This record gives sequence, structure tokens and C-alpha cells, in this order.
Amino acid sequence: MRCVHLGNTGLQVSALSLGTMTFGRESSEEESRRMFNRYLEAGGNFIDTANVYSNGVSEEILGRLLEDHREKVVLATKAFFRMEEGPYGAGASRKALMRAVEESLRRLRTGYIDLYQIHCWDLSTPIDETMDTLRRLIEQGKVRYAGCSNFTGWQIVQSQRAAAFSGWEGLVSAQMQYSLIERGVEYEVLPACLDEGLSLLAWGPLGGGFLTGKYRSGEQPAEGRIARATEDQEEAWSKRATKRNFAVLSAMEKVAKKRGCSISQVAINWLLCQEGVIPIVGARTLEQLEDNLGAEGWVLTDDEFERLSRAGSMENLYPYRFIEWANNRVWGK
Ligand SMILES: NC(=O)c1ccc[n+]([C@@H]2O[C@H](COP(=O)([O-])OP(=O)(O)OC[C@H]3O[C@@H](n4cnc5c(N)ncnc54)[C@H](OP(=O)(O)O)[C@@H]3O)[C@@H](O)[C@H]2O)c1
Repeated sequence: MRCVHLGNTGLQVSALSLGTMTFGRESSEEESRRMFNRYLEAGGNFIDTANVYSNGVSEEILGRLLEDHREKVVLATKAFFRMEEGPYGAGASRKALMRAVEESLRRLRTGYIDLYQIHCWDLSTPIDETMDTLRRLIEQGKVRYAGCSNFTGWQIVQSQRAAAFSGWEGLVSAQMQYSLIERGVEYEVLPACLDEGLSLLAWGPLGGGFLTGKYRSGEQPAEGRIARATEDQEEAWSKRATKRNFAVLSAMEKVAKKRGCSISQVAINWLLCQEGVIPIVGARTLEQLEDNLGAEGWVLTDDEFERLSRAGSMENLYPYRFIEWANNRVWGK
């Protein structure tokens, strides 16, 4: 598998990251082991987890799987969501993060985390405190690089300003939901990442399974994550089963048919075609992972990429629309 640089760093990671949110949840430890081994065999080295996945079980399983592989792997985890009762059992304060990192190290059976990500912007902690804590964790050797997840564009830039003020590099990645049916990051987050030199790690590249073709228009889903959703199932389905999303799926089906590949591979390859974007592939079974790994090693043509992008294009909102219009007027295309 190809390697790319993580942000502006010298750290090379595989073009596809392996997500482990299913480990210890819908995938047994045995199935997780099979997926982990297959991913390494395919040349992958970039593994993503979080303390909150299966309430620590995903990290524990990974800790056992990493035993003979730790040095070959770039290990990413996250903290923010609630792990314990009380004000320090969640969030991105210094006290919460310093405890969370120790707990993750223990579960992962390692002395260091390669990429430590703040799982979500914390409205109750000053970003200066969070960034200073990340810097200290790096100085202590417990963490090698820092990243964020579920931040807006201005929050990413503010984080980088806080880091620059104390003279360090700051965030190297932003982990965000991004797929052919969830493109909100294109307004601000992706431009912010490119401008600040961060990689965008794309979670949910298959829209939770919708972009595989296994859900059909007009049919209530009987199985798969969207059918099992713990939130109101009706809502999980109606949120995705829109006219626009089925139009995207239909455009993908045409490309997949012409290319003789799967719809999932088209979804992931569309992300791979974009500068600075590293898809995190998630799977419940080895068979699904095998399918998803086939997204690497080829590229959509410019025409295919454009057609897919147009199928799910977003509303051109103010002020982005105004800035584009005014600049075209002043400077021409
Ligand atoms: N930072 C965050 O807030 C955040 C949030 C979510 C995830 N993540 C990370 O991103 C990773 C990927 O996210 P995701 O799981 O939401 O990704 P996704 O690719 O959108 O959905 C994965 C799910 O789709 C189904 N699937 C996958 N491959 C398939 C295939 N080839 N054919 C048919 N069905 C297939 C499986 O569910 P079923 O078979 O059960 O339908 C699988 O669990 C996670 O593991 C985690 O590391 C991060």
C-alpha cells in the first residue's frame, strides 16, 4: 500500500487507515484479529481507535493484537467522550487528558501513542489549556503527534495559533466525517486543513454502510449498521434515504459497473483522489475489509471524479458564494 505524509510531518502513514470502532462491538476479538492481520499483510500501518470505542474494549483488543507489531504501526487514539463519572471523566482539560492518556497507554499496552486526537471541540475548556497539555504530553514522550476531530475550520485555526504562540507545530491532522454523502467539511474544514498543513482523516467514508449499495430506495433496511442504529431507526434511515443520496448512489453504481469494482471501492477512491485526505476504512467482517482494501492502487479518471462530485454537490452558501462571486467579478476566473 502507498504511504503518504501525515500533515507536514516526516511521518509516513499508509494511504488507507484502519478504523477499529467495530472491534469488541459488532466484531468479535477473533474477527478483529483477522482484520488487523489482513490489513498489515496488505501493507497498512495506520490504525485508529478511541478510548470510548466499546468503552475501552477496542483499545484493549488492540493492545493484545499489537504485541509483536507495535514498532511497525502508527497508532492513533482519542479522548474527550465520557469514560468515568464526574468533571474529569471526560473533556479536554489538563486533568482529564492527563488521566485519559495514562488509561489509554495501559489498555493499549504501549509506552507511547503516535497520534493523540481530541475527539471533539470542548466548549468548556480554553483551547490554550488543551494545546498546552498536548505539548506537555509530547515532551513527556507519551505522545508523538497531536490531532483533532470534529472541529470547525476556525477552531482548527485557533488551535494552531495557540500552538504557534508557544512555539510548537500544533495539530497535524483533523479527523472528520467525510464521504460522498457528507460533504460539509468542504466549506471550511478542508480548506483550513490544506492551508494549515493538516491531513484530513476521513471517518464514515461509506456513510455508515449506505455507500455500499446494500440499502435500496423504498425498502426499509433489515440488516446492517443503519438498521441496527441505536438512535431512532426510522431517523437513521430517513436521514440517509434522501433523493440526493440515492442520486449519488446511482452515479456510483454506473462508475462501479464500468470499472468492474464495488460501489464501496468507488466511495473510498473518491476520497483517495483528494489532496490531503486519508480515508479511515471501517469494517465489521474480514470480507468487508477485503472489499474496502481494493479501493487502493488505482484512480478514478478526472471525468468520473467530477461526475461523482456533481451528483452530491452542496448548496453554495453565503458567505462562500459571495466571496466566489465577488472575486470572479474583480479578478476574473
Ligand atoms: N472521530 C469520530 O468522531 C469518528 C466517528 C466514527 C468513526 N470514526 C473512525 O472512523 C472509522 C470508520 O468509520 P465508520 O465505521 O463510520 O465508516 P463507514 O465506512 O462509513 O462504515 C463502516 C460500516 O459499513 C459497513 N461496511 C463496511 N464495509 C462494507 C462493505 N464493503 N460492504 C458492505 N458493508 C460494509 C459495516 O457495517 P454493517 O455491516 O454493520 O452495516 C461497517 O461497520 C471507525 O472505525 C473509527 O475509527 C471516527
